[in-house]
Amino acid sequence: MPHPFSHYQESAQAIARRLGGFTPQVALVLGSGLGDLAQEVEHPVTIPYGEIPHLRPSTAPGHQGQLVVGTLAGQQVAVMQGRMHHYEGYSYEEVGYPLRVLRLLGCRTLMVTNAAGCVRPDWKAGEIMLLTDHIKLGSESPLRGENLPQFGPRFPDATHLYTPQLQSLARRTAGELGLTLREGVYFYAHGPQYETPAEVRAIRLLGGDAVGMSTVPEVLVAAHCGMEVLGFSLLSNLAAGMLDQPLTEQEVLQAGQAARPHFSALVLGCLNRLPNPGNVTWR
Ligand code: HPA
Repeated sequence: MPHPFSHYQESAQAIARRLGGFTPQVALVLGSGLGDLAQEVEHPVTIPYGEIPHLRPSTAPGHQGQLVVGTLAGQQVAVMQGRMHHYEGYSYEEVGYPLRVLRLLGCRTLMVTNAAGCVRPDWKAGEIMLLTDHIKLGSESPLRGENLPQFGPRFPDATHLYTPQLQSLARRTAGELGLTLREGVYFYAHGPQYETPAEVRAIRLLGGDAVGMSTVPEVLVAAHCGMEVLGFSLLSNLAAGMLDQPLTEQEVLQAGQAARPHFSALVLGCLNRLPNPGNVTWR
């Protein structure tokens, strides 16, 4: 069933009642094994997704399914500790739902992270990739169906989904931290099966640098309702067929743990360097 605008408002109002006047500015969606950062939020208000009207709890491994609102690296944030994936059985509308709610709550920026398979033979597992663009072929759009003009236009432009100024900020931050930051195109695969080696070869030919099962639906919804987007992939494994061994979920979660210090430093560093919301020149 499509959600009317009033549902989004009811969800946002229910959260706002718990926040006592605190307005989050930055939405963070943390992917597989990377959700620990939510523990560093100061003065957190934690709201399980199940307690927010019209939201369903998330079920994926490594995803806790709660919203943590508070201050992180000097920014007023709302952290989605656990996200919804289409492969869990959620519709794309449900996957994008929380982003619209966070926009209504006041978030102007989305910082999104994921674990992804590395498609490039010249990069290594464990490295971090800045998303400069994405490819989504052949699966339904989260914006399909009746358009809610309160959020954005029927045919939104997708030329700069990943805000160029935030990409520059990420490059600067990585440089200052001495981190290697790859950059490239995230190829969306709806999963839940990993790709076949032939699909990975096709993704490489089509221009993908990393492949994963999340992020793109959320980014489309967030950009549609006017949010600036910054995205990072942890390249948790070389994609299927690149090594002579099968892929396991264990490997993906372990890589998330191993890369956590670098990844956290990058996310916190970017948060720290975000311009004050009242002082943003590119918006
Ligand atoms: N493919 C798709 N999704 C993923 C992968 C992968 O290799 N690794 C982590 N998420």
